Amino acid sequence: MNRIFSGVQPTGNPHIGNYLGAFRNWVALQDSYDAIYCIVDLHAMTIDYDPADLEKTRIDAAKILLAAGVDPDRSLLYTQSQVPAHAELAWILGTMTPMGVLNRMTQYKDKTEAGHASNLGLYAYPVLMAADILLYRANLVPVGDDQRQHLEMTRDLAERFNNRFGDIFPIPDAYIPETSARVMSLQDPTAKMSKSDVNVKASISILDDPDVVRKRIKSAVTDSDPIVRYDTDDKPGISNLLEIMGACTGRSVEDLADEYADSGYGVFKEAVAEALVEELTPIREAYKSLSNGDVRQVLHTSGEKGRDLAAPLMREVRKAVGLKGY
Ligand code: AMP
Ligand code: TRP
Repeated sequence: MNRIFSGVQPTGNPHIGNYLGAFRNWVALQDSYDAIYCIVDLHAMTIDYDPADLEKTRIDAAKILLAAGVDPDRSLLYTQSQVPAHAELAWILGTMTPMGVLNRMTQYKDKTEAGHASNLGLYAYPVLMAADILLYRANLVPVGDDQRQHLEMTRDLAERFNNRFGDIFPIPDAYIPETSARVMSLQDPTAKMSKSDVNVKASISILDDPDVVRKRIKSAVTDSDPIVRYDTDDKPGISNLLEIMGACTGRSVEDLADEYADSGYGVFKEAVAEALVEELTPIREAYKSLSNGDVRQVLHTSGEKGRDLAAPLMREVRKAVGLKGY
């Protein structure tokens, strides 16, 4: 079976962008792939953080994924720091990553411009991400649209490594969904929904109660022309809501736009909110039924399996680059 790998940072509150853009696909792809999912705690350390919070957010991120349907009997779910080979492979890949390539990565620019301190870890973030993926020889990486550039860099690094040291890594493909790969802020639909947004009205958390979901959708910024139509340039707010509803119902945005064209924004927004409530309710309920102990057990078992899977690949890599062990 082909392998998929994906990761999420244990920072902030996972939102419906994370869910509709990524987690939902993680769950669906378990049926046809050997899946490895990782809470990337080493990545989370690249911006200012509180160590006590990190423990809580790691468990919470894993609990949300289990509640959403990641199945620990079939897939691995662990934290990156449990498998030290992520960091070791990142070092090796870093020695073959040109500075010019890293200088073009937009996430570093975005984060430092947003006020985060620049540090080597933040700069090298995409190299660690490439190591995550290549460590397990993953073929497919389900992510949201914002990770496209990192995936391109991962492919380039895999090729660069293979050309120089021999064919060790498959070249991984990104799996980016057609709808909801970029869920936008509810208050500024030209910017992506982000965990770090200070305006609480801009996003909906996966665990928000139905009342909060309804309130947030009701106050979502739209436009003054009352026709429901999919047009990301002229009607970004309505288009975003169409994508959210499309992802929740499995219907196309065109089909939904036809149905709600003349119904008025109030009625349309109510329908979007109900579709979202229906999608999120089972996750919220499953989340409540999981204990932190259950989650730690899954992480522990998966971490062990992760280390076992990574060991032979690392032996091969070390040998290929001239670091055969004694
Ligand atoms: P992060 O929270 O940045 O670790 O992201 C976890 C996953 O969610 C990644 O695959 C991201 O591409 C995806 N993601 C984050 N924000 C959004 C968004 N606004 N819309 C769609 N996908 C997103
Ligand atoms: N950079 C990703 C994000 O911010 C998280 C991530 C780290 C990841 N390593 C990964 C995603 C490997 C996919 C594969 O969302």
